[in-house]
Amino acid sequence: MTPDFVSLSRRIFKLHGELRGFCSELGRIAIALYDERDDLLRTFIESSDGGPLFSHYEVHLAEVPSLRAVAVSDRPRVIEDLQAIPETGTMHDRLIREAGFRSSMTLPLRSRRRLIGFVFFDAAVAGYFDPGTAARVMVYARLINALLVAELAPIHTLRGAVNTAIAFSRFKDAETSAHLERMSHYARLVAEGVAESMELVDERIEFMYQFAPLHDIGKLAIPDHILLKPGSLDADEIEVMRQHVPRGLEVIEVLVEQFDLDIIDNLDVLRAVVGEHHENFDGSGYPNGLAGEAITPEGRIVKVADVLDALTSARPYKRAWTLDDAFAHLARESGRQFDPRCVEAILARRDAVTAIQDRYRDSC
Ligand code: C2E
Ligand code: SIN
Ligand code: SIN
Ligand code: FE
Ligand code: FE
Repeated sequence: MTPDFVSLSRRIFKLHGELRGFCSELGRIAIALYDERDDLLRTFIESSDGGPLFSHYEVHLAEVPSLRAVAVSDRPRVIEDLQAIPETGTMHDRLIREAGFRSSMTLPLRSRRRLIGFVFFDAAVAGYFDPGTAARVMVYARLINALLVAELAPIHTLRGAVNTAIAFSRFKDAETSAHLERMSHYARLVAEGVAESMELVDERIEFMYQFAPLHDIGKLAIPDHILLKPGSLDADEIEVMRQHVPRGLEVIEVLVEQFDLDIIDNLDVLRAVVGEHHENFDGSGYPNGLAGEAITPEGRIVKVADVLDALTSARPYKRAWTLDDAFAHLARESGRQFDPRCVEAILARRDAVTAIQDRYRDSC
């Protein structure tokens, strides 16, 4: 795994190390991100001895009343002794107990007033979060909140700017925002399936998901008569069309400069998504003919997600395929265009794919 992909995690690990200098029993800090659009809370970053207890996990906030209460009360929740209270039955509760943690402190994370997640501090002894310790932990929680806002806010700004650009361009006639929603959700499904074998941490999966909708941003630079052509492209037109990848990388560099995005730690993920989503696993793709592991996991994952949605959607140049036909195509091209692990991961989630299709329908 490329260490550059996880620098927000590394900063959290470092903060944890510092905090342990005077709070030695504090064995775990975990951050979960909240997405208000689907009420989902997802594991994001965890610092604990021996690696994360808990990853690639999501739960509806509505199903965790105790956390919902933390979110609305705006006050930290301290659990003095986990053994003294009944088990809640959630996976989180079970794993924390099994790992031997006795007390915990949980705080909501916000951007302005909006809930963006939670931070969990866990200690191996009961009654650890006395008022003095709680006050120190609060300082670190605020710091973590600030780090997270600094990392996420520019991404929201960027996505907002890109959505505006799409809305005002002819590009929207070729590909809809529903396509972007679907393909980024497919990319998350694939990532969850290959997370173990490709050693993808949650932070990296989250940023890939955030950036997936930008994969074709370079199409903004492709002339309408090619982008919106109702029939097949000739060789010259294909050549122009393929330029959407290098154009996309150029657009990113401009945006990075204009929005001061170089403070984002995960730009490598954005560059991989844009630059490698048309590389083929067997080396026959473009623009660089990379093969196998030379293509980043993000490139391989987004590739499968993009083609799945392109096939099952109507385009100016083609009708929509059925899901059966699209899955058959992915299986046929496994090992050629696609990393077999990514194909296997998406084929295993047919029900989830169907649910995403039902949820994000093209409105036009
Ligand atoms: P896109 O429409 O988003 O398609 C993304 C990728 O999905 C394509 O990458 C290709 O790998 C796959 N795909 C889409 N439709 C089909 C299909 O009918 N059959 C098969 N076997 N695969 C399909 P590719 O080929 O590199 O194309 C990149 C982009 O170029 C496409 O993005 C689309 O915007 C444009 N394009 C490709 N072929 C045509 C065409 O025949 N006519 C027009 N007007 N545009 C095309
Ligand atoms: C955790 O990582 O501690 C959290 C999440 C949850 O309660 O779902
Ligand atoms: C974009 O965000 O520029 C677009 C992409 C797409 O249709 O895939
Ligand atoms: Fe593309
Ligand atoms: Fe696309």
